[in-house]
Amino acid sequence: MHIPSFIERKRDGHELAPVEITEFIAGYARGEIPDYQAAAWAMAVFFSGMTATETGALTRAMRDSGRVCRWPAGSPLKVDKHSTGGIGDKVSLILAPLLACTGVWVPMISGRGLGITGGTLDKLESIPGFRTALAEGEALAQLARIGVVMMGQTTDLCPADKKLYALRDVTATVPSIPLIVASIMSKKLAESLDRLVLDVKFGSGAFMKTRADAQALADAMCAVGAECGVETIAMLNPMDEPLGHTAGNALEVWESVETLQGRGPEDLVALTLDLAEKVSPTPRAQLAKWLADGTAWRKWTQLVEAQGGRAADTERILEIHRAPVIRQIRAERSGTLTRMDAELVGRACVALGAGRAKTSDAVDFAAGCADIAKTGRHVAAGETLLTIHARDEVTLAAALAFLHRAIEIA
Ligand code: URA
Repeated sequence: MHIPSFIERKRDGHELAPVEITEFIAGYARGEIPDYQAAAWAMAVFFSGMTATETGALTRAMRDSGRVCRWPAGSPLKVDKHSTGGIGDKVSLILAPLLACTGVWVPMISGRGLGITGGTLDKLESIPGFRTALAEGEALAQLARIGVVMMGQTTDLCPADKKLYALRDVTATVPSIPLIVASIMSKKLAESLDRLVLDVKFGSGAFMKTRADAQALADAMCAVGAECGVETIAMLNPMDEPLGHTAGNALEVWESVETLQGRGPEDLVALTLDLAEKVSPTPRAQLAKWLADGTAWRKWTQLVEAQGGRAADTERILEIHRAPVIRQIRAERSGTLTRMDAELVGRACVALGAGRAKTSDAVDFAAGCADIAKTGRHVAAGETLLTIHARDEVTLAAALAFLHRAIEIA
């Protein structure tokens, strides 16, 4: 296949044949097509879009770039959830162990930070020793033992998404419906699920800025799921302010532990239960009880220990990753907090080093924002609205430039 003509045709708005898409993705996953051509093609897709046939072909090609999980006959129901990405969205860390308490299997494949949004893998990797690359046999044995595994794309599990995801993160090609559909659904289809719930975000901190675009994304993902035999349910949820009170890798692990130990913030607990009940055979009241009484926390400890970490480290994660510079932003006057802009908080987190600018960048696990106040509340002059955790004064200044525009009091 002549790759420049393939890119050119998408650039000019033509429909690509499924067989060509399959060949391109397989070639990219094998390392035969360089990143610069894949980046140009992704930008062409960003501007020209894809038909439903092309999107379906891309999703299947990405799923089939690696192995598809095969589960033993008679194994429990396989369920999962995936978010289209938000700021402070640590739901997966809570929901995966919670769902596993119900007796289902949760074979969760996640990604790293993408654009301004955080990624489950980066959060998990802030836990010393936690391994997210698991061999098939190991993942299966863990599922049989504790019902949950949280892993990343590898060279044999969705390798095309592993590469394209990292490339999109740093080439401004994330907010494209077909690319998001294929990225999310290839991972979920590789898990061979029975049921999937999708948390489709809209608003300033989401890739889809409007509810209408989020609905189009949800419809496209549900269509691919149904076509491939997975019961797929989508929920549309706003992302105009960060979820919970933290954004940043170790800070979010800390807040997840708080939630698993029954001390979670209201919005985070409510969203976790909303999503969990969509795929769970267990009623919401029971799920809420397991979150409050330590049952989900005990499952989390099993999960962390099974994947090489120490549960006790997750309780002291803020001591392990302590930011040298901590600065508070305080309310300049009393009034109602009307805005805590998710996009600007996300940009501040990237400026602090919690996200990447190049694929080779390491993330700073300690960096981020904590004590993020919720909108709609009355705040008193001088009250803390957000605490910045920074590596140094330079990144602090870069973050402040975003954060001062993020907050409004009426
Ligand atoms: N999550 C993913 O896995 N991929 C995307 O493209 C967006 C969110």
